[in-house]
Amino acid sequence: MIVAIDGPAGVGKSTVARFVADKFGFFNLNSGNFYRAVALKALERDVSPDDEENLAPLAESLDLDMVNGRLFMDGKDVEEELHTDRVDRVVSPVSACVPVRHIVNGYIRRITAGMNVVAEGRDMTSVVFPHGEIKLFLDASPAARARRRYRQGVSELSLEEITRGIEERDRIDRNKKEGSLKITEDTEYLDTSDLTLEEVCEKVSGKIKEHIVDPGE
Ligand code: DC
Repeated sequence: MIVAIDGPAGVGKSTVARFVADKFGFFNLNSGNFYRAVALKALERDVSPDDEENLAPLAESLDLDMVNGRLFMDGKDVEEELHTDRVDRVVSPVSACVPVRHIVNGYIRRITAGMNVVAEGRDMTSVVFPHGEIKLFLDASPAARARRRYRQGVSELSLEEITRGIEERDRIDRNKKEGSLKITEDTEYLDTSDLTLEEVCEKVSGKIKEHIVDPGE
Protein backbone atom coordinates (compact mmCIF):
# COMPACT_ATOMS: atom_id res chain seq x y z
CA MET A 1 0.00 0.00 0.00
CA ILE A 2 1.24 3.48 -0.81
CA VAL A 3 0.45 6.63 1.14
CA ALA A 4 1.72 9.65 -0.82
CA ILE A 5 1.98 13.00 0.94
CA ASP A 6 2.62 16.17 -1.04
CA GLY A 7 2.86 19.78 -0.03
CA PRO A 8 5.11 22.84 0.11
CA ALA A 9 8.39 23.31 2.00
CA GLY A 10 8.15 23.31 5.77
CA VAL A 11 4.53 22.16 6.04
CA GLY A 12 5.47 19.23 8.30
CA LYS A 13 5.31 16.43 5.71
CA SER A 14 8.39 14.69 7.15
CA THR A 15 7.10 14.74 10.72
CA VAL A 16 3.67 13.49 9.68
CA ALA A 17 5.10 10.81 7.37
CA ARG A 18 7.52 9.56 10.05
CA PHE A 19 4.73 9.40 12.62
CA VAL A 20 2.27 7.46 10.48
CA ALA A 21 4.97 5.18 9.03
CA ASP A 22 6.05 4.23 12.59
CA LYS A 23 2.46 3.78 13.69
CA PHE A 24 1.51 1.42 10.86
CA GLY A 25 4.93 -0.21 10.35
CA PHE A 26 5.33 1.23 6.84
CA PHE A 27 8.60 2.21 5.16
CA ASN A 28 9.12 5.97 5.46
CA LEU A 29 10.43 7.54 2.29
CA ASN A 30 11.53 11.18 2.54
CA SER A 31 12.07 12.12 -1.11
CA GLY A 32 13.49 15.57 -0.29
CA ASN A 33 16.47 13.83 1.33
CA PHE A 34 17.47 12.40 -2.04
CA TYR A 35 17.61 15.91 -3.54
CA ARG A 36 19.46 17.04 -0.42
CA ALA A 37 22.03 14.27 -0.94
CA VAL A 38 22.63 15.41 -4.52
CA ALA A 39 22.92 19.02 -3.25
CA LEU A 40 25.40 17.95 -0.56
CA LYS A 41 27.54 16.17 -3.12
CA ALA A 42 27.37 19.22 -5.42
CA LEU A 43 28.65 21.39 -2.55
CA GLU A 44 31.45 18.92 -1.82
CA ARG A 45 32.45 18.81 -5.49
CA ASP A 46 32.03 22.55 -6.08
CA VAL A 47 29.35 22.02 -8.73
CA SER A 48 27.01 24.99 -9.00
CA PRO A 49 23.32 24.23 -8.20
CA ASP A 50 22.41 25.68 -11.63
CA ASP A 51 24.95 23.64 -13.58
CA GLU A 52 22.57 21.11 -15.20
CA GLU A 53 25.30 19.60 -17.34
CA ASN A 54 27.39 18.49 -14.37
CA LEU A 55 24.57 17.84 -11.88
CA ALA A 56 23.05 14.91 -13.78
CA PRO A 57 26.25 12.79 -13.97
CA LEU A 58 26.92 13.68 -10.33
CA ALA A 59 23.45 12.41 -9.32
CA GLU A 60 23.87 9.31 -11.47
CA SER A 61 27.21 8.47 -9.87
CA LEU A 62 25.81 8.40 -6.32
CA ASP A 63 25.24 5.20 -4.42
CA LEU A 64 22.10 6.03 -2.39
CA ASP A 65 20.41 3.68 0.02
CA MET A 66 18.24 3.79 3.13
CA VAL A 67 19.23 1.81 6.19
CA ASN A 68 17.03 1.92 9.31
CA GLY A 69 15.30 5.03 8.00
CA ARG A 70 18.57 6.92 7.42
CA LEU A 71 20.02 7.94 4.08
CA PHE A 72 23.42 6.54 3.18
CA MET A 73 25.43 8.14 0.39
CA ASP A 74 28.39 6.19 -0.98
CA GLY A 75 28.24 3.95 2.07
CA LYS A 76 28.20 6.78 4.65
CA ASP A 77 25.30 7.89 6.87
CA VAL A 78 24.71 11.52 5.76
CA GLU A 79 21.33 12.05 7.45
CA GLU A 80 22.63 14.78 9.82
CA GLU A 81 24.41 16.70 7.04
CA LEU A 82 21.30 16.95 4.88
CA HIS A 83 19.37 19.37 7.08
CA THR A 84 21.81 22.24 7.40
CA ASP A 85 21.38 25.84 6.27
CA ARG A 86 24.03 25.42 3.55
CA VAL A 87 22.14 22.50 1.97
CA ASP A 88 18.84 24.39 2.41
CA ARG A 89 20.26 27.24 0.34
CA VAL A 90 21.10 25.17 -2.76
CA VAL A 91 18.67 22.24 -2.73
CA SER A 92 15.80 24.00 -4.49
CA PRO A 93 17.69 24.80 -7.73
CA VAL A 94 19.28 21.33 -7.64
CA SER A 95 15.82 19.75 -7.43
CA ALA A 96 14.64 21.93 -10.35
CA CYS A 97 17.09 20.16 -12.66
CA VAL A 98 14.93 17.83 -14.78
CA PRO A 99 17.54 15.08 -15.42
CA VAL A 100 18.27 15.01 -11.66
CA ARG A 101 14.52 14.50 -11.01
CA HIS A 102 14.42 11.51 -13.34
CA ILE A 103 17.47 9.96 -11.66
CA VAL A 104 16.08 10.55 -8.14
CA ASN A 105 12.69 9.10 -9.11
CA GLY A 106 14.49 5.97 -10.34
CA TYR A 107 16.27 5.58 -6.96
CA ILE A 108 12.97 6.08 -5.11
CA ARG A 109 11.03 3.54 -7.16
CA ARG A 110 13.80 0.95 -6.85
CA ILE A 111 14.21 1.37 -3.09
CA THR A 112 10.45 1.14 -2.38
CA ALA A 113 9.47 -1.60 -4.84
CA GLY A 114 6.89 -3.97 -3.35
CA MET A 115 6.77 -2.29 0.07
CA ASN A 116 4.12 -0.63 2.21
CA VAL A 117 5.33 2.96 1.98
CA VAL A 118 4.59 6.43 3.27
CA ALA A 119 6.27 8.63 0.65
CA GLU A 120 6.47 12.35 1.16
CA GLY A 121 7.57 15.24 -1.04
CA ARG A 122 6.12 17.38 -3.78
CA ASP A 123 5.31 15.32 -6.85
CA MET A 124 4.79 12.08 -4.86
CA THR A 125 1.05 12.17 -5.60
CA SER A 126 1.35 13.50 -9.15
CA VAL A 127 4.48 11.93 -10.70
CA VAL A 128 6.11 9.23 -8.61
CA PHE A 129 3.10 7.42 -7.11
CA PRO A 130 0.02 8.58 -9.09
CA HIS A 131 -1.50 5.15 -8.34
CA GLY A 132 -1.05 5.52 -4.54
CA GLU A 133 -4.01 4.26 -2.47
CA ILE A 134 -4.02 7.37 -0.27
CA LYS A 135 -2.95 10.71 -1.71
CA LEU A 136 -2.88 13.84 0.43
CA PHE A 137 -1.77 17.42 -0.12
CA LEU A 138 -0.86 19.18 3.14
CA ASP A 139 -0.85 22.96 2.96
CA ALA A 140 -0.23 25.86 5.37
CA SER A 141 0.47 29.58 4.96
CA PRO A 142 4.17 30.62 4.67
CA ALA A 143 3.88 32.35 8.07
CA ALA A 144 2.54 29.21 9.78
CA ARG A 145 5.26 27.08 8.17
CA ALA A 146 8.02 29.52 9.18
CA ARG A 147 6.77 29.52 12.78
CA ARG A 148 6.86 25.70 12.93
CA ARG A 149 10.38 25.62 11.49
CA TYR A 150 11.57 28.33 13.89
CA ARG A 151 10.17 26.45 16.89
CA GLN A 152 12.02 23.27 15.86
CA GLY A 153 15.19 25.18 16.84
CA VAL A 154 17.29 23.54 14.09
CA SER A 155 17.99 26.74 12.16
CA GLU A 156 20.23 29.62 13.16
CA LEU A 157 18.18 32.02 11.04
CA SER A 158 15.65 34.54 12.36
CA LEU A 159 11.90 34.02 11.87
CA GLU A 160 11.91 36.71 9.15
CA GLU A 161 14.81 35.04 7.31
CA ILE A 162 13.12 31.64 7.51
CA THR A 163 9.87 33.17 6.14
CA ARG A 164 11.75 34.75 3.23
CA GLY A 165 13.54 31.43 2.54
CA ILE A 166 10.22 29.57 2.48
CA GLU A 167 8.65 32.12 0.12
CA GLU A 168 11.63 31.86 -2.20
CA ARG A 169 11.54 28.04 -2.19
CA ASP A 170 7.78 28.15 -2.90
CA ARG A 171 8.44 30.38 -5.88
CA ILE A 172 11.08 28.03 -7.32
CA ASP A 173 9.04 24.91 -6.51
CA ARG A 174 5.91 26.33 -8.21
CA ASN A 175 7.83 27.19 -11.36
CA LYS A 176 9.72 23.96 -11.87
CA LYS A 177 9.59 22.62 -15.41
CA GLU A 178 8.84 19.17 -14.00
CA GLY A 179 7.69 18.00 -10.60
CA SER A 180 6.24 21.39 -9.69
CA LEU A 181 3.94 21.71 -6.72
CA LYS A 182 0.46 20.82 -7.89
CA ILE A 183 -2.71 19.25 -6.57
CA THR A 184 -4.15 16.53 -8.76
CA GLU A 185 -7.90 15.98 -8.87
CA ASP A 186 -7.77 12.70 -6.97
CA THR A 187 -5.61 14.12 -4.15
CA GLU A 188 -7.24 15.25 -0.91
CA TYR A 189 -6.34 18.83 0.15
CA LEU A 190 -5.79 19.56 3.86
CA ASP A 191 -5.13 23.13 5.05
CA THR A 192 -3.16 22.65 8.28
CA SER A 193 -2.42 26.33 9.10
CA ASP A 194 -4.58 26.19 12.23
CA LEU A 195 -3.73 22.65 13.31
CA THR A 196 -0.84 21.39 15.43
CA LEU A 197 1.36 18.74 13.84
CA GLU A 198 -0.08 16.23 16.34
CA GLU A 199 -3.57 17.00 15.04
CA VAL A 200 -2.40 16.57 11.44
CA CYS A 201 -0.83 13.19 12.35
CA GLU A 202 -4.12 12.08 13.89
CA LYS A 203 -6.09 13.11 10.82
CA VAL A 204 -3.77 11.28 8.44
CA SER A 205 -3.72 8.18 10.68
CA GLY A 206 -7.52 8.22 10.62
CA LYS A 207 -7.51 8.15 6.83
CA ILE A 208 -5.11 5.20 6.71
CA LYS A 209 -7.21 3.29 9.27
CA GLU A 210 -10.37 3.96 7.23
CA HIS A 211 -8.64 2.64 4.12
CA ILE A 212 -7.36 -0.49 5.88
CA VAL A 213 -10.87 -1.24 7.16
CA ASP A 214 -12.50 -0.48 3.82
CA PRO A 215 -9.98 -0.48 0.94
CA GLY A 216 -12.78 -0.01 -1.58
CA GLU A 217 -13.55 3.52 -0.47
O1 DC B 1 11.12 18.43 1.65
P1 DC B 1 12.49 19.07 1.66
O2 DC B 1 12.52 20.48 2.18
O3 DC B 1 13.52 18.23 2.34
O4 DC B 1 12.91 19.16 0.13
C1 DC B 1 14.13 19.70 -0.27
C2 DC B 1 13.97 20.36 -1.64
O5 DC B 1 13.73 19.37 -2.64
C3 DC B 1 12.85 21.39 -1.75
O6 DC B 1 13.32 22.50 -2.49
C4 DC B 1 11.79 20.68 -2.52
C5 DC B 1 12.53 19.67 -3.34
N1 DC B 1 11.80 18.44 -3.54
C6 DC B 1 11.30 18.19 -4.78
O7 DC B 1 11.45 19.02 -5.69
N2 DC B 1 10.62 17.04 -5.02
C7 DC B 1 10.43 16.14 -4.04
N3 DC B 1 9.77 15.03 -4.26
C8 DC B 1 10.94 16.39 -2.74
C9 DC B 1 11.61 17.56 -2.52
